[in-house]
Amino acid sequence: MTTKDLVLKMLENSKENISGQRLALKLGKSRCSIWKAVEALRSEGYEIEAVTNRGYRLIHTGDKLDSVIISAATDCDVTVFDSVSSTNTIAKERSAQGAKQGTTIIAEHQNAGRGRRGRKFEAAGKGIYLSIILHPNADYSHAPLITAAAAVAVCDAIKEVCSVDCQIKWVNDIFYKNRKICGILTEAVTDMESGTVESVVVGIGINFCGKIEDLPEEIREIAGFIFSEAPSVTRNELIIAVMRNLLKLSDSLEERAFIESYRKYCFVIGKRVEFNGISAVATDIDENCCLKIVLDNGEERILNSGEVSVRLG
Ligand code: BTN
Repeated sequence: MTTKDLVLKMLENSKENISGQRLALKLGKSRCSIWKAVEALRSEGYEIEAVTNRGYRLIHTGDKLDSVIISAATDCDVTVFDSVSSTNTIAKERSAQGAKQGTTIIAEHQNAGRGRRGRKFEAAGKGIYLSIILHPNADYSHAPLITAAAAVAVCDAIKEVCSVDCQIKWVNDIFYKNRKICGILTEAVTDMESGTVESVVVGIGINFCGKIEDLPEEIREIAGFIFSEAPSVTRNELIIAVMRNLLKLSDSLEERAFIESYRKYCFVIGKRVEFNGISAVATDIDENCCLKIVLDNGEERILNSGEVSVRLG
């Protein structure tokens, strides 16, 4: 750990002011290096009070992604990278090495973010790119439910932390003001020898704050952000809420208690949809999170995956 990280950890763990001298003594560093570490933290957006004769106190963490804060609040192993190819790729590697339930990889930037159906995941502005490793307490035939549970976990977290009402477009795109603000990619990690599913990596990309004009041209018509101006809530707070909600839901997947919330969030029900060129009306979400549709000739179909298009607005 760098001096900066050590100072941050001590400030985070202390409710009272700590003098530069005490920090220096505890960490075995010079007072000058403590001062430099505090200045470096301030330049990253941490608000640190300095009171004569009493010392430093952390007032606000700014919006820097912080593994110490997230890990302390969720009791999970959390690693934050500045830049990675894809957090899902790293999480899958960690999972294959035996990472435990809740281990989470977060990045400030991804240069090869992956979306569903082999697409690339593009983003802009301030985002949240995280992948969480789950060993769900359920038979792996329930794995598709994890994606749906993740969508509910994200919508609930956005409501709790950002006071914003989002909606789910079946299966797992999250929309706000008719624009996609979050995508979820769930991948299974299989044991090559036994061929069994070892764990599931749930990758979540949230467009937290930014402007439409910052988005790559290809997604400018459909993507959006939760906030257009810097909010008072932080990405750390939202990540903590997402992780807590998802860990809780993944413990009780088979009970399917979240399906009711999924139905409420899902804006597709009751709408005319197109699926593989067929026009139909979406009528319900069943207990396996499949979409029930009724074709114009009255035939009912149950879709368990794929994408439907819906007219927005
Ligand atoms: C989609 O909408 O097609 C799914 C997008 C999933 C993006 C997230 S960002 C974090 C994680 N890492 C990735 O490479 N993809 C997921």
